[in-house]
Amino acid sequence: MQLIDTHVHINFDVFQGNLGSLEQRWREAGVAHLVHSCVEPNEFQEIRSIADRFPELSFAVGLHPLDVDKWTEGMADQIENLASSDSRVVAIGETGLDLFKADNYQQQELAFISQLEIAQKLDLPVIIHCRDAAPQLRKIILDLKRRSPKPVKGVMHCWGGTPEETEWFLELGFYISFSGIVTFKKAQQIKDSAKIVPADRLLIETDCPFLAPVPKRGKTNEPSFVRYVAEHLAELRKVPLAELASQTTANACCLFGIELPKENS
Ligand code: NI
Repeated sequence: MQLIDTHVHINFDVFQGNLGSLEQRWREAGVAHLVHSCVEPNEFQEIRSIADRFPELSFAVGLHPLDVDKWTEGMADQIENLASSDSRVVAIGETGLDLFKADNYQQQELAFISQLEIAQKLDLPVIIHCRDAAPQLRKIILDLKRRSPKPVKGVMHCWGGTPEETEWFLELGFYISFSGIVTFKKAQQIKDSAKIVPADRLLIETDCPFLAPVPKRGKTNEPSFVRYVAEHLAELRKVPLAELASQTTANACCLFGIELPKENS
């Protein structure tokens, strides 16, 4: 069985010095590939050196909506240049909107639209972070589609929306990625959303080190735990785990243009 963890942050301090054992555990869990997200372009060199060490890692470059105070006029060019500089860059992001406790909507919107345009230009998918902002986000993407014929593709990562909001982004052609939150007992709305996503639009992730899935809840999350997300989704959707694994892996390969080596076993 091969799984792809489509959203990790293993450059964070909490993993310092542990990457070797982390790798051993993700391989044991069947994780064949990881997509490393990026919260600000300054992380690029560090993420790239992690990718030098682990051939099963590809990565994104972008600015997180909660970091948009760092957005500068030159940052769009910086992101575009970095994204073009390495063939292992498979996405722009993470970007999006987070209105949970933010009062800088204008700035978030500006940075988000710029990054959507870079993704369009480079024909890369966007990794979208959306918190309490689904209507605004949908409108921005619809507006962009209206004024530009080029496709916008991507994934709603760590998805926490209602089934209705899920439909909006499915209609826009987006993939929906579920994290450990879907395993939480009280996350009924997210479980309901997970049941309606068509099999060919479903992705899985850990978003580690955050939000470890049950039965590891409260621990530091890590890529090997994506297996618990897969198991839970298989149960929710009433499909065999092997089927869910091969489908979500094929979806990730399709969206991010990943080619997996042949399975040994
Ligand atoms: Ni993230």
